[in-house]
Amino acid sequence: MTASPTRASGTASLQHVVAAQQFDRQRLASLFRLSEEMERVRLEGGHQLLPGRIMATLFYEPSTRTRLSFEAAMLRLGGQVLSTENAKDFSSAIKGETLEDTVRIVAGYSDCIVLRHHEEGAAARAAAVSPVPVINAGDGPGQHPTQALLDVFTIRQELGRLDHLHVVMVGDLAHGRTVHSLAYLLALYPGLRVTLVAPEPIGMSPGLIQHLLRHGARVDETDDLLAAVSDADVVYQTRLQVERLSQPLDPGRTGLERFRVDRRVMERMPEGAILMHPLPRVGEIDPEVDQDPRAAYFRQARNGVAVRMALLRSLLQP
Ligand code: CP
Repeated sequence: MTASPTRASGTASLQHVVAAQQFDRQRLASLFRLSEEMERVRLEGGHQLLPGRIMATLFYEPSTRTRLSFEAAMLRLGGQVLSTENAKDFSSAIKGETLEDTVRIVAGYSDCIVLRHHEEGAAARAAAVSPVPVINAGDGPGQHPTQALLDVFTIRQELGRLDHLHVVMVGDLAHGRTVHSLAYLLALYPGLRVTLVAPEPIGMSPGLIQHLLRHGARVDETDDLLAAVSDADVVYQTRLQVERLSQPLDPGRTGLERFRVDRRVMERMPEGAILMHPLPRVGEIDPEVDQDPRAAYFRQARNGVAVRMALLRSLLQP
């Protein structure tokens, strides 16, 4: 690892990252420029950009991508990591400690806290008591703002633009926190058209649809996936969030099977479009399409490291 003198600016003036609405286009443009620089740093194995800094990952829910890419990001920046990956059972939460008290304590051991929690609003509660930056890594069915940052970065990298996009969102749009945060970020760009493809009980909330409309987006709802993808720029597939359902539901009874992406769907997608998914997938994208160059989900997941490096650097560099 080598030192680099370049200063960060992507989230200057942000103390915590709790919701996608904290970002505007200028802040995103700055963060994405820094993310490109961080991708070069990552490919070189890392630089000593945050030596002596400690990031705590406090995860009350399972994660592969978010936790490990944050940890990889901090290590590539020359910082260190404290981690509790099953905080619900293996932290003092099991003894009844409140989230607020846990955060106050962990803030004394670290320079920032990356928090995933099962309750919507948990990140805002943590931020309210934390003297160090709190980053929301998913709060129940609420938001997942850093996923949306890497999603928008991926669209920019893959398509070369963020305006006048037709984005088809598919799957569990009610409980999928990634699509909530993504909708807020996409609404910042002109000429947005969003087509929502979801069974009625798990469709996108009226409040979020109103937000898109208020920001000038065209919003359509359909159950004709093949027609929707035929002029899409981005098809964003999601899984059924079974862990968020109040009643156990047989996935076969949701009607989601109709919206599975397979070779037939890819044949209808334009050549220049991309297929995204926050992952994990559990059957809603047929692995037979993985070799299609338009299948961007593994590149999307990899972008999480550079974007999170940029975020950490701009939050933590003095
Ligand atoms: N996309 C995402 O949040 O994945 P993990 O649940 O594995 O972190």
